[in-house]
This record gives sequence, structure tokens and C-alpha cells, in this order.
Amino acid sequence: ERLLAPSGPLAGKHVIVTSGPTHEPIDPVRYIANRSSGRQGHAIAKAASEAGARVTLISGPVDLPDPRGVTTVHVESAREMLEAVERALPADIGIFAAAVADWRVADAGGQKIKKKEGTLPNLSLAENPDILATVSHLPQNRPALMVGFAAETENVIEHARQKLAKKGCDLIVANDVSPATGVMGGESNTVHLVTRSGIETWPTLSKTEVAERLVAHVGALIGGTEP
Ligand code: CTP
Ligand code: CA
Repeated sequence: ERLLAPSGPLAGKHVIVTSGPTHEPIDPVRYIANRSSGRQGHAIAKAASEAGARVTLISGPVDLPDPRGVTTVHVESAREMLEAVERALPADIGIFAAAVADWRVADAGGQKIKKKEGTLPNLSLAENPDILATVSHLPQNRPALMVGFAAETENVIEHARQKLAKKGCDLIVANDVSPATGVMGGESNTVHLVTRSGIETWPTLSKTEVAERLVAHVGALIGGTEP
């Protein structure tokens, strides 16, 4: 595919990015999902590729084209996303931006649930695997640098710190998505980079700018091979 050896701060690195929502079937026509356009994750995949990395993008259902020069794997559910990530390993860096549904319907059937007067369907839920935590805790094959996201509606920094600890990743990109900020699904993002050594807050940037800056930051942390 590439005519020239890649150059740039992430040359020689394999980066796995997750993006978009997951869809968890209730029946063949209905699903549970999180809100996510996939724009931030896709922008990160593109920026990492432009920085010279080999990029595998594992994407839930989104309305976006596959970024050029990036190997894109399309999945629906959280369990499929985890499988695709495991197949894509080993990698140097994982950047998990997907809005993964926390629960799935335990016994999703093969037939459409019919509406019946006076009764409600009884949906029992099962917890989905936590992809970020699973990969961050791998005894072997753990990427050297694991980055997660945290979209919060309150106590942004505190929640991000807790997620960093619980999930075992190296960096959390946290942003405030409370309705008042109007950020959810929007074009721009005000993010805080939370690590074990502190917090860095960036000005409000477009999703493309956040992606480029994050890739540069990650490149500096990992010590990419300069041509
Ligand atoms: N994540 C994941 N797999 C899941 C849930 C979340 O990989 N099943 C990842 C997301 O891609 C994100 C990070 O974990 O990078 C944080 O997701 P978030 O939903 O904010 O965290 P949760 O632990 O699910 O907490 P909550 O939804 O209760 O805030
Ligand atoms: Ca969640």
C-alpha cells in the first residue's frame, strides 16, 4: 500500500483505535446504544496514520467513511469489538475512544418482540466486557501505552482519576459532556489529560485538533523512531 517507508513521530508503531458506539441487539430490529458519532475516534485514527503509524481502527456502526490508509474493521456489539481488538494485537499503542454500551440484553431472541396490550417485555441485562480494562490488564501483549476516554456530566476530573485507576490504562482523555456544554455530538471538545502524574487541560479545540495534539502527545510519551 505504501510506496515509501512511513516517516513521522509514530513511524514503525502499530496503533489500535476503537471508535463509535456499539449496538446491542434487543431483537433483530431493536438495539441498545450509546450516543457517539465516531468523529473523535476516526480523527485519531487518521492523525495517527498521518504521523506514520500502522493503524487498525475498530469501529462500531457510524455514518463516516473509512479513513484512508487505515485498516478499518467494522463491528456491531461490544463483544465483537473486544474480539476484533484481540485479533489486532499486538500493538504499541491502544487509544480506545469508542462509546461502548455497558449492558446487553441477556437473551436477545431471533424474532421480533411483538407489542402486546397490557404487558411490557421483561428485558434482563448482562454486563458487557470492559474492552479498555481487559486489554490494559493483559499479562502478555499489553500495548506499552493505553489511552482511554471519559465523557462525564459531573465531577469530570475525579471520575477520570477513578477510571484511570480502575481500568489500568496510562492516560484518560476526559471531557465534560453535561447538557449545558452542548458538547455531545458537537464539533469541538474541551479535554483534560489525566495521568498518574497530573492533569493537563487543553483549550477548546476541534475534534481534528484534539486528535492531532493527542497523537503528538502519545508520540512524545512512547518515544517514536524519527527517520
Ligand atoms: N470502555 C470499554 N469497554 C466498555 C466500557 C468502556 O472499552 N465496556 C472504555 C471506553 O472506550 C472509554 C473508557 O472505557 O475509553 C471509559 O468509558 P466510560 O463509559 O466513560 O466508563 P465506564 O467504566 O463504563 O463508566 P460509566 O459509563 O459508568 O461512567
Ligand atoms: Ca460506560
